[in-house]
Amino acid sequence: MDNNTRIIAVANEKGGVGKTVTAINLGAALSERGKRVLLVDMDPQFNATRGLGLDSDNTYLTTYDLLKGDQKVKVEDAILATQWDNLYLIPSHVDLAGAEIELISKIGRENKLKRKLGELTQTFDYILLDTPPSLSLLTVNVFAYAKEVVIPCQTHPYAFAALDELFDTIDTIKAEINPSIEVAGIVATFFDQRTRVSQLILDKLKAHRRYQKILFDTVIRINTTIAESAENGRPVIYYRRSSYGAYDYQRLADELANRLPQS
Ligand SMILES: Nc1ncnc2c1ncn2[C@@H]1O[C@H](COP(=O)(O)OP(=O)(O)OP(=O)(O)O)[C@@H](O)[C@H]1O
Ligand SMILES: [Mg+2]
Repeated sequence: MDNNTRIIAVANEKGGVGKTVTAINLGAALSERGKRVLLVDMDPQFNATRGLGLDSDNTYLTTYDLLKGDQKVKVEDAILATQWDNLYLIPSHVDLAGAEIELISKIGRENKLKRKLGELTQTFDYILLDTPPSLSLLTVNVFAYAKEVVIPCQTHPYAFAALDELFDTIDTIKAEINPSIEVAGIVATFFDQRTRVSQLILDKLKAHRRYQKILFDTVIRINTTIAESAENGRPVIYYRRSSYGAYDYQRLADELANRLPQS
């Protein structure tokens, strides 16, 4: 395992804020720039897996197999090459939903993922982890392993209000489980120029004592091509390069690449 690998959780306990498309499209943009990227799908909904054109399938190993802690399961065997250079995936499976219950009585349950991914022998520049919309044991496993967190925040009042709780969670994780975790940044998503509310929430993010320092300059605009590309199992840059979505996610990738994590 290479110490320079940036291990980034894409997380927000709130649902539907753009976590999965952010993980997929950041991963695609970074890999297109020549970085080796591993995307790890930790959501039983397996939307990141689907977004890269794969289905929930029993023919390959998934994050569920990794979490079960079976010594015979090798992490390298769970890595799938995608159709795109430098972009790799450890897929998810619907059964991952059951891992929560299966892990609950296990000693070291928060560190199962960290242990397995710690066995990686290939090196990656980025490991991006997509998380489910809840503070489940799955998300805690991701936070125990990650060095950084990217937080997509929908430009909507409810999403803004929920950020406080998320920061409390990350503070607790830092105190109890993973002292080296840092928030890499907040990215405003679903920005709609035509609505006052989008601008209002963006202004609030920019004015907030804690959030303003870590808000990415790049704002992800609402763009149906993003949703369409995910439905079609392709990152947006490979689906329609001329779209706003492709532009925004490439800018975000460049910003992330140039930004070091901060607390
Ligand atoms: N900027 C955008 N413009 C238009 N549609 C978007 C945008 N970002 C995401 N979407 C679409 O909105 C939906 C929710 O996005 P996504 O799945 O990334 O959110 P999520 O936070 O991962 O959701 P969940 O919490 O369920 O995992 C998806 O259908 C996605 O394709
Ligand atoms: Mg998702």
